[in-house]
Amino acid sequence: MERHIDETLNALFLKACRAREKAYAPYSSYRVGAALLGSDGETYAGANIENVSFGLTICAEASAIVAMASNGCRVIEALCVVADGTPLVTPCGACRQRIREFATADLPLLFASPDGQKKRLLLGELLPHAFGPSHLEKTEPRS
Ligand code: THU
Repeated sequence: MERHIDETLNALFLKACRAREKAYAPYSSYRVGAALLGSDGETYAGANIENVSFGLTICAEASAIVAMASNGCRVIEALCVVADGTPLVTPCGACRQRIREFATADLPLLFASPDGQKKRLLLGELLPHAFGPSHLEKTEPRS
């Protein structure tokens, strides 16, 4: 099982690197790619798309999640985010909540740089005590 997750995250890493090359980041020059595996078996990827009106910027994670949900899939099985550097990228607060909408605390996450630095976490470690669909008595996506 653990080996299977490793392989899945490594495959997502390559797709996130490829997505990152399509980033539109003329203002920050901080290029981000994200790739996720949906419960439909499909991989969805996205990049950050900035805007001269900075607040309109779309994060890479948001791009990938919207692609998944727009295709009718409602559960993220694994997710990888790639950006340059030290410290390694981690999702912004808004994207942590976006991820939570379609995943539970046991979601495996990989944060990485294109040169191969990697950090694994679970969503429950990244966003403890999360506000989620069950607070509104909505069914969790995984159930
Ligand atoms: N960004 C992402 O796309 N994902 C993250 O996890 C962190 C930040 C983008 C937004 C903006 O285009 C740039 O990185 C700098 O904040």
